[in-house]
Amino acid sequence: MPQTDLGGLSNSANVNDLRSLCIDLAVSAASKAAEGRVQRAQLETETKSSLTDLVTEFDRAAENFIRERLSSQRPQDGIVGEEGLDVPNTSGLTWIIDPIDGTTNFVFGLPAWGCSVAVTQGNTILAGAVHLPVLRETYSAASGRGASINGTELISSQSTSLQTALVATGFAYNSQRRSQQGALVAKLLPQVRDIRRSGSAAYDLCCVAAGRVDAYYEHGLSIWDIAAGVLIAREAGATVEFTPESAVTDITLVA
Ligand code: IPD
Ligand code: CA
Repeated sequence: MPQTDLGGLSNSANVNDLRSLCIDLAVSAASKAAEGRVQRAQLETETKSSLTDLVTEFDRAAENFIRERLSSQRPQDGIVGEEGLDVPNTSGLTWIIDPIDGTTNFVFGLPAWGCSVAVTQGNTILAGAVHLPVLRETYSAASGRGASINGTELISSQSTSLQTALVATGFAYNSQRRSQQGALVAKLLPQVRDIRRSGSAAYDLCCVAAGRVDAYYEHGLSIWDIAAGVLIAREAGATVEFTPESAVTDITLVA
């Protein structure tokens, strides 16, 4: 996926304006979810692909909020979101939304969860933002314009040593895939400094961007988990590869 291919950017969209809208949507949606969460001692949850794959009313409300804002402000743009149906575009631009990435953390009251919003043109990610309300961190990037946390420029780790690398990873909801992921992490652990599992792929990529981890890998991701984080990590100087390039689910990523 090219990083700065802005050729043919339609709708006279400016990547800085798109970045501002990503921030606005992610901050507003995640803040509403956070306010709702503190008023509930216990949350009602439903499951999706497996018993461990949770969804709450707050995931759906946050995504609906973003969809409504986009359909009134940018009716010609498409939408791909974790909790709803795809909306095709007529403008060439598509918004990729994970209303709450780290839903398990959200349910259990752990802080690493946030809202991820990105906008793409074909395979090019133009702008993205991830807001983590409990951590009070807003990460954002625009293609060719760098990445920042709460307005301060981000620079990723430049380390190339595997032995001293702090490596983030995550695990899928499918138990067969998990046992393969467990076997892989068991092989990797003796070769690196240590492993971290935050519970949010979007946050893991932001941690790559911030140099809080040296690397991150995961199998079985969806495009909404990673779209904003990929651009934020790349714009902070990290190399990020994922495959298949045009897939929506079952993505393997290395950063
Ligand atoms: C999950 C998180 C987790 C990752 C999973 C994702 P969700 O997203 O990003 O860190 O390991 O692969 O599905 O379900 O919390 O939106
Ligand atoms: Ca997710």
